[in-house]
This record gives sequence, structure tokens and C-alpha cells, in this order.
Amino acid sequence: MKLLALGDIVGNSGCEFVRKMLPGIKKLYNIDICIANGENSATGNGILPYSADHLFASGVDFITTGNHVFRRSEIHDYLDSRNDIIRPYNMHKSVPGRGVGVIDMMSYKIGIINLIGTAYQNANYANPFDALDKAIAELKDCQVKIVDFHAESTGEKRALGIYADSRVSVLFGTHTHVQTADAQILTGGTGYITDLGMCGSADSVLGVESECVIKALKTGLPTRFKTADKNIKLDGCIFEINEKTGLCISAEPVSIK
Ligand SMILES: [Fe+2]
Ligand SMILES: [Fe+2]
Repeated sequence: MKLLALGDIVGNSGCEFVRKMLPGIKKLYNIDICIANGENSATGNGILPYSADHLFASGVDFITTGNHVFRRSEIHDYLDSRNDIIRPYNMHKSVPGRGVGVIDMMSYKIGIINLIGTAYQNANYANPFDALDKAIAELKDCQVKIVDFHAESTGEKRALGIYADSRVSVLFGTHTHVQTADAQILTGGTGYITDLGMCGSADSVLGVESECVIKALKTGLPTRFKTADKNIKLDGCIFEINEKTGLCISAEPVSIK
């Protein structure tokens, strides 16, 4: 099977570009399933029911999230009521939503795990290595297992990737919004990339208008961030997976303008 994983989709401009490009990309590359990180898809950051609906209507099959998932309280019930959108598994067990999901492909099942890193993050998340072991055990009936590790540190991401090697089909990173040049098949057969990148403006700071970010960093004054909407790109990675062995055959990054 072929999986297209999309990096963090930023704001309305990112969502609109996904809507425009995704149907053609799915057709061209024979994509079976598209998983996207939607934590920044709402206007003004976070994710809202309308931005998640927009992504599903555009051809995204499953949404993962990250540290911004609970920024807008309107998403709480949506997370509780659907099984095609998840939040990081290693957040506190009392928060809304689930950390794993399953897509039933009839002849096999795809298990999806969302994890969040602990290095350079503000919150006290549970240990992602222990959480990965637990989540894999929960998905023992799934031949294919996909992990979105939403984390800041490249070292933490690679370490978790190698820790997961041979036990999951694919582990990709999200959150930095910058695509890394290290897509590979690890020695045990897991497809890996440290970060998918983002679907958002190439002429921006991580999808935000550069002037706002420069002002905030230069002066320290509270600044309203505005989503950039020029020169939009779509970053991700296409993984081919053998659904019988659960291992990855190829990992090809994509970046389309
Ligand atoms: Fe993000
Ligand atoms: Fe993030």
C-alpha cells in the first residue's frame, strides 16, 4: 500500500492548497491513504471542526495533531466523537480524544499512533518511548503501523525512530515545519523521516508572516501572528509499505509548489 503523509498544514492558505493539489497527487502516485498533521489548520492556529472537515473533504483520510491541538476548545467534542482524528497518545489520560486510531482496509488494518516529544516542549508529557511500547501493544491486530512523532528535537526523533525500527511500518516526524533530508528505510525495515515539513507559505517563518515573527523576536513585545498566504507549498513523504510484512519498501519525500 502507498501512504502519503503531509506535514503540518498551516491556516486557510495551507488548507486551500491541499484542497487544490491533493486529489491529483493521490491519483498520480496511486496513494491509498493520506495522513496529515492538522494541528495548525484553523485560522489563528490550532484546529477547529471546520478546518478538520475541510481537510477530510479535500481527500485527507486521517488527521494527527500535536502541541496546539487543544488551543481551541471547540475541537474537544469533535475529538471525542470521531475515530479518524487523534491527539498525542502520551498526553494526560483525562484530556479529550484518543492517541491511536485504526483504518480498516478490509484485507488488513492500519494502526496510527500519535506521540509528542518531551525535549524543548513546555508541557509534562509522559515518556514517548514507554508510550510507544504501550500503543504498539494496543494495535497488535494491525498489520501496518504508522507513527507521527510530533517533536522539536532531531535527536529525540531519530532515537524514537530507531527504537521503533522493525516494530512499526513508518515513523515520521512533524512540528518543526522544515522538511529534513534524511528519508530512509532503517535497518530493521521501518520507513523514517525526521520531519515531513509543512503545507504552507514558502515565503514565511514556519507558515507565519515573517514581519510578525521578526518583530516578536527582536522586541519581545506580544505580537499577533498572521498566517502567510504567498507562495504556498505542500511538503510530505510517500511511503510504500508491504501490508503482509508490515515493513516499508520505499520512502520518497515530496515538496510541491
Ligand atoms: Fe505545527
Ligand atoms: Fe507543533
